[in-house]
This record gives sequence, structure tokens and C-alpha cells, in this order.
Amino acid sequence: MDWYDAVHALGVDEMDRTHREFAALAGLLMAADDDDFALLFGKLLDHTREHFSNEGRLMRISRFPALAEHEGEHHRVYGDLLQMNRAVQNGRLLLARAYVRTGLAEWFGLHLASMDAALATHLRRVGEAPARPAGMALPVL
Ligand SMILES: [Fe+2]
Ligand SMILES: [Fe+2]
Repeated sequence: MDWYDAVHALGVDEMDRTHREFAALAGLLMAADDDDFALLFGKLLDHTREHFSNEGRLMRISRFPALAEHEGEHHRVYGDLLQMNRAVQNGRLLLARAYVRTGLAEWFGLHLASMDAALATHLRRVGEAPARPAGMALPVL
């Protein structure tokens, strides 16, 4: 999974850092042999739990209006990953392999461009983004 700051960065450092790591992990998973796959899939699950709970925190502190919809999507995806991880850790890699190959990057790209982009825009607008890129002025509310 390729990551390009110019295309994928949303202008909220904390989110961008996490998304960059996610893309790197997904890329490693795509290229992993069976031994590494199980280890990396477990890491992806942990990373995703942290990723989603951080975004949940950002949504709450900034009173993001689409919180329920965005978190619903996070819960759905995390539930799928959790289920796949159980199979993977028991040596059944097929479904997770197929998901990593075909579904994961597509989901991430869509989620990034829609729900995460909306959250980043909201955070920049309300000025509660924990870190902003240098030089980005906040509008006076
Ligand atoms: Fe995200
Ligand atoms: Fe998200």
C-alpha cells in the first residue's frame, strides 16, 4: 500500500502519523510470508484499535457531528479484523490473506478520503487539532 503525503495527508499531524504507519503495516502484510503474516496481522489489529480509539477521542473533544456514523464504521471494521485475527492466530490465513490483498487498501483509501477527511477538516476548523502543520492559520471563529 503506497502512501504519498501530497495525496493522503489530511493536515492533522496525529492522524497523518497514524495513517502513515497503517499504510506501512498493510504494505508489509501484503508481502509477508506465512510466519510473518500472523505476527503482522496481530500488530495491525493492535494498531487499528489504537488508531480508532484516538480518532474517537478527537471526535469527542471537538464535538464532531458525525461521530456516531464514523465510530459505527470503525466498530464494523475492527470487528471484522478481530474475527479474522482469531482465524489467523489459529493458522487459518486464507480469508485474511484475501482481505489484505483486495479489501484493506480499498477500505482505507475510501475511509481516508471520506470520514477521516471530514474529521480532519472539522478539527482544523474548530482549532482543536493537537498539532497543526506549521504555517496553517486558523480562521477566527
Ligand atoms: Fe483514520
Ligand atoms: Fe476513521
